[in-house]
Amino acid sequence: MSDPTALRQEILRLTREYSRQVHSSFRPASDPSRQPWTAGNPIPYAGRVFTEDEVEAAVSTTLDFWLTLGTEGEALQKELAKFIGVRHSLLVNSGSSANLVAISALTSPKLPSDRRIKPGDEVITVAAGFPTTVSPILQVGAVPVFIDADPITGNARCEQLEAAYSPGKTKAVMMAHALGNPFDLATTVGFCRQHGLWLVEDNCDALGCTYSMPRELAESLGFKENSPGLDEGPDRVVRWTGTWGDISTQSFYPPHHLTMGEGGAVNIVRDQKLKVIAESFRDWGRDCWCPSGIDNTCNKRFGWQLGELPEGYDHKYTYSHLGFNLKPLDPQAAIGRVQLQRLPEFIEARKQNWEVLRKGLADLEDVLEFALPTHSTGWDPDEGFSWDSTGCRTECSWFGFKLAVKPGAPFSRTELAQELDRNMIGNRMLFGGNLVRQPAFVQLRQERPESMRLIGDLADSDVIMNTTLFLGTYPGLTLDMLNKEVDVINAFATVNV
Ligand SMILES: Cc1ncc(COP(=O)(O)O)c(C=O)c1O
Repeated sequence: MSDPTALRQEILRLTREYSRQVHSSFRPASDPSRQPWTAGNPIPYAGRVFTEDEVEAAVSTTLDFWLTLGTEGEALQKELAKFIGVRHSLLVNSGSSANLVAISALTSPKLPSDRRIKPGDEVITVAAGFPTTVSPILQVGAVPVFIDADPITGNARCEQLEAAYSPGKTKAVMMAHALGNPFDLATTVGFCRQHGLWLVEDNCDALGCTYSMPRELAESLGFKENSPGLDEGPDRVVRWTGTWGDISTQSFYPPHHLTMGEGGAVNIVRDQKLKVIAESFRDWGRDCWCPSGIDNTCNKRFGWQLGELPEGYDHKYTYSHLGFNLKPLDPQAAIGRVQLQRLPEFIEARKQNWEVLRKGLADLEDVLEFALPTHSTGWDPDEGFSWDSTGCRTECSWFGFKLAVKPGAPFSRTELAQELDRNMIGNRMLFGGNLVRQPAFVQLRQERPESMRLIGDLADSDVIMNTTLFLGTYPGLTLDMLNKEVDVINAFATVNV
């Protein structure tokens, strides 16, 4: 066979056939052709969920061998921005890189001097969580100011924002929606508006989560529109998390809501200028915005004079920022495009899996504290969640099923985790626990006490560190797997009561 088109078709046909045969245990749990899980096998907390469609996309773009971010990347950036309802999405090679680009963008001299983050300026963040929500703040020379987290929601105690504020020094709030639970956006956005601060939402664990509020409140904060495809009636505004701040970030590492292996995105919610700046930081710090392989998009490639460079110096090699190169590859983007089509189904599966675990463990409320969505005051197996009086609501596409071992329980969180391990049930702690107790942060505080500021004693972040773990909710979990988890935990808790 010598016709390249026919050859390519044959390769892709065989690729699909191969993937159908060897990858069937990675199909969504809802897919009837998925290889069933059988007792005695591990139950991961998360992982890649894909079919032959993703494998074909990866092989097909690899055959093109363009490799660097190209047409697939361009397409995914547009599709992702459209899905979320933001002005632009920029692909990067990880969620950590997305956070680094997001905060770096806010240091740009192209921003108004009073808004720009300069060395020694402060960024308010939360103590419990993932390290690379916080480390980019330090990496750009700013000072993270840690507020505490609520052990039930896992989210920032937003009532501490005012105490953390330092006039003239605070420039931004940057924190994550913990484990797919939106933080209190009404309070946080209101605080940022009042003081003229940037809001960076680390949405790495929360793609597909929504936050809604009464229309009057939303409009007072500048939000009139729902996100695309969302509607809670004329009296409310409902939007995806990641669209309430100025910039938000995604991770596409396998445990997250969709995957392209390694990968992530920076979402620019409204401001075109931030897009140009963020792209510059992602792409070596260059001033030029031509896509890879294209020259002279600005139509004056040799017509600029910037810095102390001579008139007409090539715009392609003009650098207005101290940038990085954090782009992913085009085959990754091709995988991401297929995954994005599955996103609505994945979002729902995570909600349903959380429900199955919550109902299955409902008898253990004396010994286990279960997560509640922000603004929720309780959960009932028939009525679902009850809500506080703010009128704000959250809908979680859970990254994980968070639970905490209550103080009076006859077993510890670590003993429960060990039991889960013995039964090959994937479990994780809430990432770094109280981050300021991590070796890297302790070292930094000892060497440079002025490098961070703590608000209060962060005692509840310690509670999270000492009592909390989470189970998976990912769309690869079948009912058999979830039931096994429920049985193991119920049996362990009952024996130990
Ligand atoms: C909240 C949060 N932010 C950032 C990241 C970093 O993402 P990545 O692993 O893609 O660098 C993670 C990773 O899980 C995360 O949970």
